[in-house]
Amino acid sequence: MPSMAFGGKRNFNEIHRVPNGNISNGHGRDDLFAKRQKILQHRKSLPIASVERRLVEEVQNNDTLIIVGETGSGKTTQLPQFLLNGGFCRDGKLIGVTQPRRVAAVTVAKRVAEECGCELGQKVGYSIRFDDVTSSFTRIKYMTDGLLLREALLDPYLSKYSVIIVDEAHERTIHTDVLLGLLKNVQNARSRSVKESKLENLVPNSEMALEKEKGIRQTPSFLNRCQGVKYPPLKLIIMSASLDARGFSEYFGGARAVHVQGRQFPVDVFYTEQPQQDYLDAAIVTIFQIHLQEGLGDILVFLTGQEEIESVEGLVKQRLQQLPEARRKLVPVPIFSSLPSEQQMKVFTPAPSGFRKVILATNIAETSVTIPGIKYVVDPGLVKARSFNPVTGIESLVIVPTSKAQALQRSGRAGREGPGKCFRLYMESEFEKLADSTVPEIKRCNLSNVILQLKALGVDDVIGFDFMEKPSRMAIVKSLEELFLLGALTDDYKLSDPEGHQMARLPLDPIYSKALLIAGQFNCLEEMLIVVAMLSVESIFFTPREKADQAKRAMEFFTSLDGDHLTLINVYRALCEFLQESSTKSSKLKSEKKMRKWCKQNFINSRSLKHALDIHRCLAASFFLHAALKQPNGTYRALSNGQVVQIHPSSVLHGKNPECIIFNELVRTNKNFIRNITRIDPLWLPELAPQCYAAQS
Ligand code: CDP
Ligand code: MG
Repeated sequence: MPSMAFGGKRNFNEIHRVPNGNISNGHGRDDLFAKRQKILQHRKSLPIASVERRLVEEVQNNDTLIIVGETGSGKTTQLPQFLLNGGFCRDGKLIGVTQPRRVAAVTVAKRVAEECGCELGQKVGYSIRFDDVTSSFTRIKYMTDGLLLREALLDPYLSKYSVIIVDEAHERTIHTDVLLGLLKNVQNARSRSVKESKLENLVPNSEMALEKEKGIRQTPSFLNRCQGVKYPPLKLIIMSASLDARGFSEYFGGARAVHVQGRQFPVDVFYTEQPQQDYLDAAIVTIFQIHLQEGLGDILVFLTGQEEIESVEGLVKQRLQQLPEARRKLVPVPIFSSLPSEQQMKVFTPAPSGFRKVILATNIAETSVTIPGIKYVVDPGLVKARSFNPVTGIESLVIVPTSKAQALQRSGRAGREGPGKCFRLYMESEFEKLADSTVPEIKRCNLSNVILQLKALGVDDVIGFDFMEKPSRMAIVKSLEELFLLGALTDDYKLSDPEGHQMARLPLDPIYSKALLIAGQFNCLEEMLIVVAMLSVESIFFTPREKADQAKRAMEFFTSLDGDHLTLINVYRALCEFLQESSTKSSKLKSEKKMRKWCKQNFINSRSLKHALDIHRCLAASFFLHAALKQPNGTYRALSNGQVVQIHPSSVLHGKNPECIIFNELVRTNKNFIRNITRIDPLWLPELAPQCYAAQS
């Protein structure tokens, strides 16, 4: 087996070295009581637990608070629970917690629901694009930052929230940056509303309902809306894992910043002695070097994306076969955003006794997901990032070196539960050349989507908007131009009516929204729905490095000479035909298995394709008007014909009563039952079924 030479051992993070903490990683008996005790003990052992009272007081005394604390100190899972217990959800208000990543929103919500001893979607829930697991009982809601931005379109004062926590703010995703500006405005507007209001009672919810009844077609400047209504102040908490809180504090007018002491053990950092040509190969060699030479403890490897992770997973499994049986006790566990959530949860399950996990992760594991048991980190020093060329207007995903801050976050993952080791797959001299921190995404991506949203929120002067860090003027102008060309903006850069409003409300890139809106005129709505669904998911084709030729041949089977879009339609239709044939012969479970096999044979990413099928179903059903809205008495009204319908008891949504749904079939027994139901965002309706929606108002 080849080996790697590492030198430059350096101890870092001495400042945070604290005595060994007490972590309950016990051998829990699996009865419920023991499990609850274990969770309780774990919660108590977190660094943040000792400052619960102080944090609640800080939030009471400060409308804006910045909380900085190392990854794993308990910010994301514990703070919302502290605030809930501290009375911040009185009057039925919610605590909203935004995450830059879908995976984090989902896994953390699951964990917190477990800690609270409730079913997911009840007191604790999450909401991400195309997947909303909340109910009227939800008080702590985890969501993506992009989703909260979209909520602001419907409810400009974010009136159902008493507290909003912007988590992982140091990541500075484009949505986080826009959200910070927006929340600053909302906070001011809500305090102003208290001062200016002539009304005694708080009526934001009924006001909201009224707005909805009127239809949500016109969105005047959001700060002037709902005048005369009094809103309670909005508490805003910005959470960050990096030590630099100054930027956030300055942006929020000198807001108070507090630091939660984390638990960090020393981590020895090693660098390679030679530059590495092939970092994937170097990663694999290092994984096995650790596995064969170092003591027990899990390994965390940072890779740049799904394909890379899957190919390393395959290669690790292959090489394991070359080892003697007794040395094969290594289990690769992948984690990346588009992985189905049951599989994502595997990273939190300890490896069987005597085995070691090697977690193959994207930079999701840098700060947003805390994985227990890590003792070794392998860091090739690369990350996939968005990059935008304002001259050409073209955005691309490129693999770039991490910043120093990211490298430190990554190595820190090895020192959560005891001293650890980090192997950087580059030379120490390269580390010195890295940028100190990552450039905020808003400075390196296409702005069309957020500009459209800002315009829909009534922010007309985008260039003058109070961004924490302004995007370049050129990038703004380029995006305004693009939106104008798409017909979303008028020639004086106002949102066009109805197209601009319609495009702003679809949860898609403006270019896709536009394509759907005009597809009807060209009699190709169905095809366009397929294309948009297929383009809205991670890559459909999967090309393992070692089977590139075979994959290419498989793709030729679907290839349309007209190009990639029609090729995607071919893939989709081929799968539908296959499913139709196999579903008549076998059970659902079997046909899913067959679908996975079919995908594997055709070098297609089955997860992406399944996701596309779902998206397509949502979009298609909405377009074809199988939508229904909840009525005050709990029944539903079908939008196509006004018929009163009820959710069939066989549906998982029976009893959950979401506000707006789409359904596949109507069955008539003693009542009108609807079956196969998905909840959707009510924002889609005015666009997807304009004629019906107009008839409602
Ligand atoms: O946000 P922060 O990085 O400060 O910590 P956290 O995400 O609240 O995690 C606190 C603790 O909860 C960590 O020790 C994690 O191991 C644990 N946790 C877990 O066991 N399962 C999850 N899905 C999330 C967190
Ligand atoms: Mg966190």
